[in-house]
Amino acid sequence: SKDLLLALALGYLFGSVPFGLLLTKLAGKGDVRDIGSGNIGATNVLRTGSKPLAAATLVLDCLKATAAILLARTLWPGSENFAAAGALVGHLYPVWLRFKGGKGVATLLGILIPLLPIAAVIYAVIWLGLLLIVRISSVAGIAAAISAPISAAVLDQDLLFPMFLGFALLVVWKHRENIVRLRHGKEPRVGKKTA
Ligand code: G3P
Repeated sequence: SKDLLLALALGYLFGSVPFGLLLTKLAGKGDVRDIGSGNIGATNVLRTGSKPLAAATLVLDCLKATAAILLARTLWPGSENFAAAGALVGHLYPVWLRFKGGKGVATLLGILIPLLPIAAVIYAVIWLGLLLIVRISSVAGIAAAISAPISAAVLDQDLLFPMFLGFALLVVWKHRENIVRLRHGKEPRVGKKTA
């Protein structure tokens, strides 16, 4: 119905705000797309040398999805999943950046927080745990993303499983260049300069 389309549009609008690009530009760091992996996410913002900007990007790219879902829940009850899908697609494919957006790891966490809080905790533990152990952001992010449909299947009696499976596949697809680099042993570790 009309409400579901509005929720989708609201989600897209929130999700498509490229905080990594905006914050680094505002901080006078130039265009984050010209360095490292060229991505607009927190990992690549960290490659500008600013931990606070990277942390802010992570939090805002996460919470923009949470905010869209909570707003949709208030305005149009039952439309949350449409806001969630809009937010992820908006982040991955923002019209403002000619559809070249981020990779969705932070935004997917922000979707899980209101929809499946326990899965969000599992996701964050896998992400941070692998980040600390392996120190490769893409490995940690891909593993966390794959945990979302698995958690949904286990926790939600299959209701949200297909949606999060689709979301995880999109996030993995967005990491295809990272996967090529990983296969060639060329993916940089967090804290090192080269990409
Ligand atoms: O969330 C993105 C991360 O998983 C990889 O980022 O810049 O290393 O491609 P990047």
